[in-house]
Amino acid sequence: MLENRKILLCVSGGIAVYKAVALVSKLSQAGASVKVIMTESAQQFVQPLTFQVMSRNDVYTDTFDEKDSSVIAHIDLADWADLIIVAPGTANVIGKLANGIGDDMVTTTLLAATAPIWIAPAMNVHMYDHPAVKRNIQQLHEDGIRFIEPSEGFLACGYVGKGRLEEPEKITELVKNYFTREHKLNGKKVVVTAGPTRERIDPVRFLTNFSSGKMGYAMAEAAAEMGAETILISGPVSLPVPSGVTRIQVESAEDMLKAVEAHFDTANYVVKTAAVADYRPQTIANQKVKKQEGGSTIELERTVDILKHLGQQKKNQVLIGFAAETNDVCKYAKEKLIRKNADYIIANDVSEAQAGFESDTNRVTVFGKNNFEQAFDMMPKQQLARQLFEMITDKEESYDS
Ligand code: PMT
Repeated sequence: MLENRKILLCVSGGIAVYKAVALVSKLSQAGASVKVIMTESAQQFVQPLTFQVMSRNDVYTDTFDEKDSSVIAHIDLADWADLIIVAPGTANVIGKLANGIGDDMVTTTLLAATAPIWIAPAMNVHMYDHPAVKRNIQQLHEDGIRFIEPSEGFLACGYVGKGRLEEPEKITELVKNYFTREHKLNGKKVVVTAGPTRERIDPVRFLTNFSSGKMGYAMAEAAAEMGAETILISGPVSLPVPSGVTRIQVESAEDMLKAVEAHFDTANYVVKTAAVADYRPQTIANQKVKKQEGGSTIELERTVDILKHLGQQKKNQVLIGFAAETNDVCKYAKEKLIRKNADYIIANDVSEAQAGFESDTNRVTVFGKNNFEQAFDMMPKQQLARQLFEMITDKEESYDS
């Protein structure tokens, strides 16, 4: 299943290094070509020779030990890999990467990498819970690095809790799923909208909402990872463009409508994650409106409901809307599915802590045709986005067959 896949395993120093040996074996058995880099502390637990035998490749331990004079090893390895896994990922390596430190073969390679990086942490339960470690993990999430959560159980230090390196079989399974899924949107065009819109009142004021763009950017990133040509139509947010994604920046609902329309005919999937203003000021003052005694009223008019408008025109496009609700989530989401002629509505209860606007995590329920309904647990938005696309592409395949 992993034939022709090149996996670079970065091993940092913890007792779980022995499990990394099993991981190399599992990945190799599945057909992957595996190369290994070890930190100095990893070598305290297991000899490089063990990894060399298991991988049938040289093991790299020192940035300055150039085995091939025609290349620079850490750049060459970073370019070689289709996927990089750090397992076990210690608090030290996580901290260095989160802060851009490259002081050994593992960290310089990680900094030079453009391939996806997955970190499988393993450490003492209190270390994993330390605010600094949490901060670094959070930073790496934001940098687009994926984490394979440690499992709970007996730890080598004697504690029981979260911190065990995920089992090699499970990591291999995730890798297989990743490479299978990677192709699912090959040849497809996905248009994602994200962020808020701004509806101007005058040159210095506007109406907007709390959307940070995180959910929409995660959807775009997942689509690109799965091989889609991905167009991200984004309201004003301060997030970096995910790799492989083309971003079009817009301001108002009107701008967003025009940008979406320009790509709609050629799109296979349209994902409307943006929180589009439903109303805008009837007129925009050319000059700053001066304050006066007493109250003031702004006359508002409706913006075009982009999702509904697309729903009226759609041919073969799969139309996915989001619904931000604070009550009767299921009722309103189902009503939007029908009224806007969408294929799926992904509903989030934005009154829930750590869900909806601005948070890094979200909890959603997806509604679709024929009373389809599937709830997803609370999880990081990037992970959720991948699971949503996996579920939707599977479902669409089942309709086609
Ligand atoms: O950006 P984050 O901080 O990560 O927050 C994520 C989110 C909460 C914004 C996101 O998960 C979400 O729920 N997005 C939809 C927000 C919204 O506008 O919901 P709605 O129920 O008002 O609209 C329903 C659907 O119609 C949405 O797909 C919306 O994009 C679309 N719509 C709404 C109004 C309009 N004029 N045009 C539209 O296309």
